[in-house]
Amino acid sequence: MTSSEKTTPVTTPASGTPSPVPTRRLGSTGPQVSALGLGAMGMSALYEGGDRAESLATLHAALDAGVTLIDTGDFYGMGSNEMLINEALRTAPAGARERAVISVKFGGMRDPDNGWGPVDGRPAAVRNFAAYSLQRLGTDHIDIYRIARVDPAVPVEETVGAIAELVQAGHVRHIGLSEAGADTLRRAASVAPISDLQIEYSLISRGIEDTILPTARELGIGITAYGVLSRGLISGHFTPDRELAATDFRAISPRFQGENLRHNLDLVESLRKVAEQKGVTVAQTAIAWVLSRGEDIVPLVGARHRDRLAESLGALTVTLDADDLAAIERAVPAGAAQGDRYPSSQMAHLDSEH
Ligand SMILES: NC(=O)c1ccc[n+]([C@@H]2O[C@H](COP(=O)([O-])OP(=O)(O)OC[C@H]3O[C@@H](n4cnc5c(N)ncnc54)[C@H](OP(=O)(O)O)[C@@H]3O)[C@@H](O)[C@H]2O)c1
Repeated sequence: MTSSEKTTPVTTPASGTPSPVPTRRLGSTGPQVSALGLGAMGMSALYEGGDRAESLATLHAALDAGVTLIDTGDFYGMGSNEMLINEALRTAPAGARERAVISVKFGGMRDPDNGWGPVDGRPAAVRNFAAYSLQRLGTDHIDIYRIARVDPAVPVEETVGAIAELVQAGHVRHIGLSEAGADTLRRAASVAPISDLQIEYSLISRGIEDTILPTARELGIGITAYGVLSRGLISGHFTPDRELAATDFRAISPRFQGENLRHNLDLVESLRKVAEQKGVTVAQTAIAWVLSRGEDIVPLVGARHRDRLAESLGALTVTLDADDLAAIERAVPAGAAQGDRYPSSQMAHLDSEH
């Protein structure tokens, strides 16, 4: 897809309940959700410096603003991210849980030393993971349930079939996928309706455009795009001298290393010129670009501070016309980034990259 093919302006619906956040539907069978989702991962895991009180305040600010899609994983902080969301919903104004669409990833195995094991997509494991998540979230249903990585040892039909049984039993509302390739999308969709594919998509991660996105569209599967700021790299706030703890994912991410980082931050400076011309921020430009790629795409942002959330929400009122999109493409051409989006050992687990 080229920049001129799909330019969806981001507008608030003219009728219905007034809300500062417009909504989009996830796929042809999925739920209506806020056009911007909040990913809670960095509040409990993978990025250094999470602050529980500020995380709760950010979740509350998001719910207050009309953000309904909240994404988590049972392995983010070994369940603590789910418990954080539980607390945020319990302490929010009445009706928050009913309005929220909780998306949960499972399957990533952990160990007591904070390490990661293989993924487990066996049906019995699916039921076990779901039972614990329901308990930690303090809810009787998960709105969207998905395995974080396709388990190469278990046919995807079996994993999805197990979630479909949870749907039948009322424990889960919708089935999603994560980082799955086009063939897997087809196989999964032959078993049960799939609401959305969660996958990395940003100005500097455009791998889905060739095959995965067209296949998802053909099958009526929506996209929840993560890493739209490339984990902060293209937010306009990341500085080359920032020191990262060894436990921070970015300390091992190829894009944040040495010459790659310098090159990638040069791209951000080009993008900053475009953003300044429009009077918006770099992060807003990057998020608005993802929003502009189609009504079937919902960006998840990883804000963990209220000011970052407010900045991200500002992207919803940015309209990019054809000239803006062309200027963005010139600043950050497809494939311009240096470095893979994951270290090679983790790239190997991405069904979407095979
Ligand atoms: N399915 C999957 O495989 C997968 C993988 C990764 C993530 N996810 C989901 O996607 C969500 C988002 O992913 P992500 O956190 O990696 O993506 P992101 O939104 O690209 O990056 C978030 C980071 O960018 C920095 N940032 C700077 N300005 C920001 C702004 N205005 N708004 C938000 N963040 C800003 C923050 O880092 P600092 O706070 O350190 O400055 C923040 O932690 C996650 O929370 C998770 O739910 C899914």
